[in-house]
Amino acid sequence: MFPLNQWYVAGFAWELQDKPLARTFLNHKVVLFRTGNGEVAALEDRCCHRSVPLSCGALDEGGIRCGYHGLLYGADGQCIEIPGQVKIPGKARVRAYRVAVRNQVIWIWMGEQADSAPDGPPPEIAAHDNPRYKFKGGAFHYDAPYQLIHDNLLDLSHVGYVHAKTIGGNPKVHMEAPTNVSSDNHDVRVVRWMKSSQPPATYSAAWPFKGLIDRWQEIDFHVNHLNIFTGAVDANTDALDDPRRGGFHMRGFHGITPETDTTSHYFWTMASSSHPDMPDNLELVYQQTAMTFEEDRVIIEAQYRNMCQFDGAPQIDIHVDAGANRARRIINILSQPAGHPA
Ligand code: FES
Ligand SMILES: [Fe+2]
Repeated sequence: MFPLNQWYVAGFAWELQDKPLARTFLNHKVVLFRTGNGEVAALEDRCCHRSVPLSCGALDEGGIRCGYHGLLYGADGQCIEIPGQVKIPGKARVRAYRVAVRNQVIWIWMGEQADSAPDGPPPEIAAHDNPRYKFKGGAFHYDAPYQLIHDNLLDLSHVGYVHAKTIGGNPKVHMEAPTNVSSDNHDVRVVRWMKSSQPPATYSAAWPFKGLIDRWQEIDFHVNHLNIFTGAVDANTDALDDPRRGGFHMRGFHGITPETDTTSHYFWTMASSSHPDMPDNLELVYQQTAMTFEEDRVIIEAQYRNMCQFDGAPQIDIHVDAGANRARRIINILSQPAGHPA
């Protein structure tokens, strides 16, 4: 079960060019494509004639054409042409999903009913259009359920152990960092400060820190994505709770979308600020972030394989789990069918 009636991340605008893209979201097979006027559309990935995936077909003026017998579908899922046949049966249609593109993120509305309307626009990812930053991103596929990725992102104490080569630093400092967890309705916020700590490798390569740094991590969990704002200033030069603070900024966007019950899409971007006296750090930050997330993937997939092998084995909670546990409770509540409280 997943929370329905939510926008979920389906991909990025730059991924869709002149070919259909097949993806599964929440166990629904979907084909994404651009119509003739450049709009993004999403249909059930199944021709209503003989069930061939529409993603095996090709884009055509007006929509997507099945690659088997040539039925043409518009963005609303209606079949608009059957080659060699004048009459088009009323039932010649497939489910259409509502999609929206905002800040270069493609969102898909996974409604409980096929025709349920979104309750508002998808979230804004402001860092993508903030002139202070440049961003770049990608997509990972996980052989693990999506909540294990939430757990990982809401508990950044793992950074010192898993990411020693990039954004790590001293593991002890990470484990002992004062952490504040709060929640508001269906959102969770975790704030951690690491004052007078050693700059990790990525930070030193991207920004001319003079020595020790004051470092922050602000994690904002929403049901369909997380924003993680991390960064640092030279120690004792700026207030860590000042939203206008300077220094090196990394603004991560994490769109975690369930693919199936046991697999996940992880769409991410990292936006960073460059120092005027340093070369542009976009490519460096992108490469180091991709390496970091690959380290997470290895750990989380190994974790999930073991969870399957030791099925039902008890687990304990420790102090770093507070944010992740709150997020799990929210997902649990929102996943219940209407009228069935958790
Ligand atoms: S299966 Fe699609 S046109 Fe026949
Ligand atoms: Fe990580």
